[in-house]
Amino acid sequence: MSGKIVLAYSGGLDTSVAVRWVKEERGLDVVAIGVDVGEERDYDAILQKALAVGALPESRIIDAKEEFVTEYIWPALKAGACYESKYYLATALARPLIAKLIVDVAHEVGATAVGHGSTGKGNDQVRFDVTFAALDGKLDIVAPAREWGMTREEEIEYAERFNIPVPIAKASPYSIDVNLWGRSVECGIIEDAAVEPPEDAYEMTVNPVDAPDTPQIVEITFEKGVPVAIDGDAPGPVALVEKANKLAGSHGVGRVDMLENRLVGIKSREVYESPAAVLLSLAHREMEALTLDRDTAHYKALVAQRYSELVYFGLWHSPLREHLQAFVDSTQERVSGKVRMKLYKGSCFVVGRESPESLYRTDLATYDVGDMYDASAGAGFCKIWGLPVRVAQERDRASR
Ligand code: ARG
Repeated sequence: MSGKIVLAYSGGLDTSVAVRWVKEERGLDVVAIGVDVGEERDYDAILQKALAVGALPESRIIDAKEEFVTEYIWPALKAGACYESKYYLATALARPLIAKLIVDVAHEVGATAVGHGSTGKGNDQVRFDVTFAALDGKLDIVAPAREWGMTREEEIEYAERFNIPVPIAKASPYSIDVNLWGRSVECGIIEDAAVEPPEDAYEMTVNPVDAPDTPQIVEITFEKGVPVAIDGDAPGPVALVEKANKLAGSHGVGRVDMLENRLVGIKSREVYESPAAVLLSLAHREMEALTLDRDTAHYKALVAQRYSELVYFGLWHSPLREHLQAFVDSTQERVSGKVRMKLYKGSCFVVGRESPESLYRTDLATYDVGDMYDASAGAGFCKIWGLPVRVAQERDRASR
């Protein structure tokens, strides 16, 4: 192989070693692309590091925050996506976007290959590879960390040999992925599933024990299933998510300790922090409770489960995910209004909701005066509703 490869670059150990390794082992010149999906980092330093370890001058940082929120996070939020009821899919949602941007650059610079720093044990390789192939099946895919067969220690030695800066201490090798929708932490002591994650695993959330003693009420405004304002302030999608992270994180909301089923068959212990995802997703569910009819709400919960699997399994571009998205988007037409959530020492719960599209009718629900519900129809309804149950039980008793 010879030519150019566009490599997803994070500035971390794996991708820094990869820049050098791809050059040494494959003879490919590397265009390193750092994608800003909301991790607060010194991106200029990251770019300089890429160039220092040998990447081509076409290397660059792409600010993809807005696209990430509007094209990936909002669709997933509307779908109620949460893998195995705990993980709001921050990493899984960012991968297809990063892969798409890599393919765009590959076309622009005339590269023959694309690559990423994921290992062969995780889900991220699948998300990258599947998206690369979906968007341009002719590009070669190189995943150095999957191919080089180095242990983490050997990788650190390789880095030291080629003067590649090693960003983490050898003693605490967490693998961390951060974006606007949350933070994923694995490796190190976290691999011991029996042990409580140490406090240094967390960054976006305060320990609930140290959270304010006074609860805080936060009002989220939704338009067609999308959060547009917090406490009346509508700063735009990216700033809104950032604000939600700060608010919920300051109350210790969003910590998740999870033993999850990876696509590749391994169970792994992960720590997540997703303050904004928890706050906005719980609020969204309450908005739906008020504005969706029962059957749609129940059916949508089934869709959410399948949708979450598809996202987690790297199938963002699959026909089924797109068809389910069309269903989800159609359900959101009237999911508008306001939800008030209370944040208090690690918990986040609804305390009020209102909507011009509300299906909640106090004149039907009330047990007080003004009841419009015809309760006299109840007996007849019960008789017909229970008819098949009654018939079946009568048969079973007769044949016993
Ligand atoms: N297990 C999560 C997922 O599959 C998080 C992966 C995090 N990646 C990382 N490099 N730490 O989406």
